[in-house]
Amino acid sequence: MGSRIIGTGRATPPNSVSNRELEAKIDTSDQWIKTRTGISSRYLIQTGESLVEVAAQASREALRKAGVAPSELDAIIVGTVSSDYAFPSFGCQLQSTLGLDSIPAFDVAAACAGFVYALSVTDSMMRAGDFKRVLLVGTDALSTMVDWGDRSTCVLFGDGAGAVVMVTEPGANGVLGTVLRSSGKLADLLAVRATGFRAPANSERRRDPDDAMKMRGPELFKAAIRGLEEATRAVVAQAGLKLDDVALVIPHQANIRIINVVGERLKLPPEKVFTNVDRYGNTSSASIPIALDEALEAGRLHDGDLVVLNACGGGLTWGASLVRW
Ligand code: ACO
Repeated sequence: MGSRIIGTGRATPPNSVSNRELEAKIDTSDQWIKTRTGISSRYLIQTGESLVEVAAQASREALRKAGVAPSELDAIIVGTVSSDYAFPSFGCQLQSTLGLDSIPAFDVAAACAGFVYALSVTDSMMRAGDFKRVLLVGTDALSTMVDWGDRSTCVLFGDGAGAVVMVTEPGANGVLGTVLRSSGKLADLLAVRATGFRAPANSERRRDPDDAMKMRGPELFKAAIRGLEEATRAVVAQAGLKLDDVALVIPHQANIRIINVVGERLKLPPEKVFTNVDRYGNTSSASIPIALDEALEAGRLHDGDLVVLNACGGGLTWGASLVRW
């Protein structure tokens, strides 16, 4: 018995902010951001908006496409580091927003690798027989954690949510395996040493600036490339398959240069790598489920296709999942 994704959904806050609009507020340029990151615009959550509502919207869409009623769910698992509060968890808030009660709901925190980590946890619990139908969500609002005076980080991130509905199913399709890695020694490459993010970073309720995100971009860039290449090779080899068998890679959307270098090292033709970082920026845990939903909509995935999902984030954390669609 394995686990299989049968519905996907995505949602963002309404406010899309272009590089040109950032130029008016920050010492940056559309050209710098595009050439160094591939990002043209991103969705930014505003004061008074709720990321839980955004995640609920993505969840309802995934449930509708899956033909699963909310009342049929056995669990809600959320990959996120953006809960409004230290607790209750994002999962508990989402559960009540969806009008549900009593089923287990919890968060998995692995920064930008949150979706891959949460997918692995979900798959393992479903294989163990704990749950038959799970709502798995990846959602983050890292724009609320950056220092908007730090131009090398604040331009990179956007906010949003992606959701998938998973069911247990016999047969060859579904999650084939995941490899997960972390290195606490590299914590200083990307860290936010604060919790509870209800207030956007630029609001009056701003925390101490020392609480904002700190990133060592160039070192992180290299560590991400190494980790993503290794994890992708490992997850494919672990299944006894070859990279040539892979029909599509859906990478975490952090930076087009990271995605391209990893693609070149793995000798993947560009048409086998899905990207949408230009319109979203880095949405952390949300980026893979948002991209998966768009890839399906664009007809880039077919029954039986072998798909790799890979991600790297603060922690450091990284990993890759292999899915037979
Ligand atoms: N606008 C204009 N100029 C800028 C900006 C900006 N927004 N940010 C930095 N610069 C300047 C710097 O001040 C520097 O100027 P200098 O040469 O006069 O000192 C110059 O641009 C080059 O800066 P670098 O940091 O060396 O630029 P680099 O090419 O390394 O790109 C970047 C920076 C985009 C942050 C890159 O290092 C990166 O993508 N790192 C990975 C970060 C990442 O993806 N983090 C997300 C989480 S982890 C993950 O998801 C993988």
